[in-house]
Amino acid sequence: MARILGGITTSHIPAVGKAIEAGMEDDPYWEPFFKAYPPIRAWLAEKQPDLVINIYNDHGLGFFLDQMPTFAIGAAAQYRNEDEGWGLPELPPFKGDAPFSWHLIESMVEQEFDITSCQELAVDHGFTVPMQLFWPKGSHPPAIPISANTVQHPIPTLKRALDFGKALGKAVRSYPEDISVVILGTGGLSHQLDGARAGFINREFDEMCMEKIVTDPEALTAISRMELVEKAGSQGTEFLMWMMMRGALGKVRQLSSNYHIPISNTGAGTMLLECIDS
Ligand code: DHB
Ligand code: FE
Repeated sequence: MARILGGITTSHIPAVGKAIEAGMEDDPYWEPFFKAYPPIRAWLAEKQPDLVINIYNDHGLGFFLDQMPTFAIGAAAQYRNEDEGWGLPELPPFKGDAPFSWHLIESMVEQEFDITSCQELAVDHGFTVPMQLFWPKGSHPPAIPISANTVQHPIPTLKRALDFGKALGKAVRSYPEDISVVILGTGGLSHQLDGARAGFINREFDEMCMEKIVTDPEALTAISRMELVEKAGSQGTEFLMWMMMRGALGKVRQLSSNYHIPISNTGAGTMLLECIDS
């Protein structure tokens, strides 16, 4: 049966993609952010996962306001990237694993999560920047994109996101082949890119979320969506991706954690959680 090795969180800020492209990892502005990644890359190199599930929120490339799935799972052999207007280079397609995707979709629907299945999907910076951060040489395992709506209200609740993760964990573990899987939760932490509160960052709230998501993720389900927007900023709702990832893991040990503000307009959190007994 498939095993989940652990989960990794990261912000997916487009400027990070620009910094990677420009080779600025040791630059004084970027170093406090990039220093979080070599230990996680070393863990990945040691564990050699067979597959990565990348939980991210599409920002308008794969879906738009006219058609906005609450939860979508990629079911393609590969996923293309496109120019989104951030000035990032267009990347070659990311290899998928359609049979594994269909297993996930079957199992999630069986567990009463209504999924939009995507046999064709363009993946944006929410997906690609983390892939570059964790597999800088491009040699990543096959990847399954899972996108949740954080763009157009109503967005899922924190409880729904955690429950989605729990069902996802069951779906992965019921895959009959003996493969190992790592799960990314990308986005966050607090940020607001537009409106009167543009530039808003909330260190205290971010640090609370980073602690509780390890020790007591259930407690975070008491936060309402309105409160999440208020405390984390309108784009800080990307924390839902972290909840989805966390739900899939079960018992964990925290192997690394880093928080740095600001990177671009965002409180950037990175952590590696290793599964115990799964
Ligand atoms: C930024 C952060 C994001 O999560 C995003 O999707 C786009 C931009 C930023 O801080 O610049
Ligand atoms: Fe984002």
